[in-house]
Amino acid sequence: MKIIYPGSFDPVTKGHMDIIKRISEKFDEVIVACLVNSEKQTMFSLEERVSILNEEIENYKITNVEVKAFEGLLVDFAASVGCTMIARGLRAISDYEYEWQIAHINSSLNNDLETIFLVANSKYSYISSSIVKEIIRYDGDISNFVSENVELRIKKKLKIIQ
Ligand code: COA
Repeated sequence: MKIIYPGSFDPVTKGHMDIIKRISEKFDEVIVACLVNSEKQTMFSLEERVSILNEEIENYKITNVEVKAFEGLLVDFAASVGCTMIARGLRAISDYEYEWQIAHINSSLNNDLETIFLVANSKYSYISSSIVKEIIRYDGDISNFVSENVELRIKKKLKIIQ
């Protein structure tokens, strides 16, 4: 069975990778759907986010994961790849309301779609991509939250290093 893990991944964190790794162990195929979110001003372009995700997946040596970019409705993307399962991580109770709404919207648009929630690893339950970007802007240590590769990519983007 295959499952979609959607998100903006700007950039991918260790929290996201923890979810990807866990679903890759339970499902035959994982499609990481990297979103063009018109409401979010991203640090990395869609191409960059997809390539960073691919680098991470290679570094984690996960073989049954494919990264795809998508624009538009998640239900349409799911139909286009023939998938009826969506995975989302729940970091805290505050995520639940938003996730509950999205899950209901998606299932009302396509009754076959099922959303499953994974409880985020407690080590990463308080981080987000925006927080990581904010910490690094003030020269804080983000090594617990993103890989070395992602840290380098952010530093290059912010021209902290060449
Ligand atoms: N570890 C670390 N951070 C995590 C995380 C985890 N396990 N899970 C979520 N986050 C963070 C992300 O880093 C992100 O942080 P940021 O806002 O600082 O960038 C934040 O939580 C939530 O972002 P993300 O998971 O990337 O979701 P999103 O809100 O950008 O998008 C979609 C959610 C993709 C499911 C939804 O927007 C969607 O389906 N869009 C398509 C349009 C559509 O179909 N709309 C109708 C349904 S709403």
